[in-house]
Amino acid sequence: MIEFGNIKRLNEDEFKKFAKLVYEESGIFLKDSKITLLSNRLRKRLQALDIDSFREYYDYIQNFPDKAKEIEQLLDVVSTNETYFFRNERQFEALEKYCLPDLASKKTDKTLKIWSAGCSTGEEPYTIAICILECQHLFAGWDIEIIATDIAPSVLDFARKGEYSGRRIEKVPPGILQKYFTRDAEYPEVYTVKDRVRKMARFYYLNLFKNPYPKNMDIIFCRNVMIYFDREHQKRLVAGFHNSLSKHGYLFIGHSETLHSISEDFMYVKLLDSPVYVPRESGNEF
Ligand SMILES: C[S@@+](CC[C@H](N)C(=O)[O-])C[C@H]1O[C@@H](n2cnc3c(N)ncnc32)[C@H](O)[C@@H]1O
Repeated sequence: MIEFGNIKRLNEDEFKKFAKLVYEESGIFLKDSKITLLSNRLRKRLQALDIDSFREYYDYIQNFPDKAKEIEQLLDVVSTNETYFFRNERQFEALEKYCLPDLASKKTDKTLKIWSAGCSTGEEPYTIAICILECQHLFAGWDIEIIATDIAPSVLDFARKGEYSGRRIEKVPPGILQKYFTRDAEYPEVYTVKDRVRKMARFYYLNLFKNPYPKNMDIIFCRNVMIYFDREHQKRLVAGFHNSLSKHGYLFIGHSETLHSISEDFMYVKLLDSPVYVPRESGNEF
């Protein structure tokens, strides 16, 4: 087995090749300053494959019979998956206090479709599920679907288990923790989301630049994903969301993200100091 520390840092030429491959396959744009970060992340994959040089790994990908499968593994180690329950909690307050009641009053077909795009390890879609359960009286007899997607297979596996601890659950209010999680008897630091929460979210592999988007969404969450893309990919992404959202829909993006100079299709509405966007044609005003 290759020692992690024995694999040297990428040289400039290797960095350029991998950065280009990652960009073409995922839209993730790695600046030159990310050379150490990329070296460290790739080392994990080299170690798993018992390969001791980046050049050899690059050739391995190019010659691998199922190249797409190895690229999935490459993107899995390269992607940044930081997330936690109730991240930017004001957005979930806006969801529960404004968006869900608004949709409940407007939608006559009694279906609610929510997409968490770039869901990582599942904290975001499960937080959405909890918000819906907290106002479930509005949705009696409704068909509710939360589609949660990501490019990294390992985070999707993690999410499906629904087991969390430490920082991931730090922001969950104690009453909510008690109501929607069970504490593991053997490992008391581990909390598992209860079945009624878990069953609301379905996890799928979806590359935002290679796969078609789900249709007729009422709400899309795509938070802290756009920051990894360049302007061209951000524009493509947001145009895709506009197509995917229903007329009365809502788009939630991250606190450090903006649609300014990316899309004219959406209107910014400030809900509880949270960046929320609605399709311009919706005429939705708060
Ligand atoms: C920082 S996490 C954000 C998690 C969550 N949305 C949040 O805000 O807490 C970004 C996620 O986007 C995913 N991602 C990056 N590029 C992607 C792409 N092209 N298609 C789908 N998911 C992608 C990553 O794998 C990662 O899990």
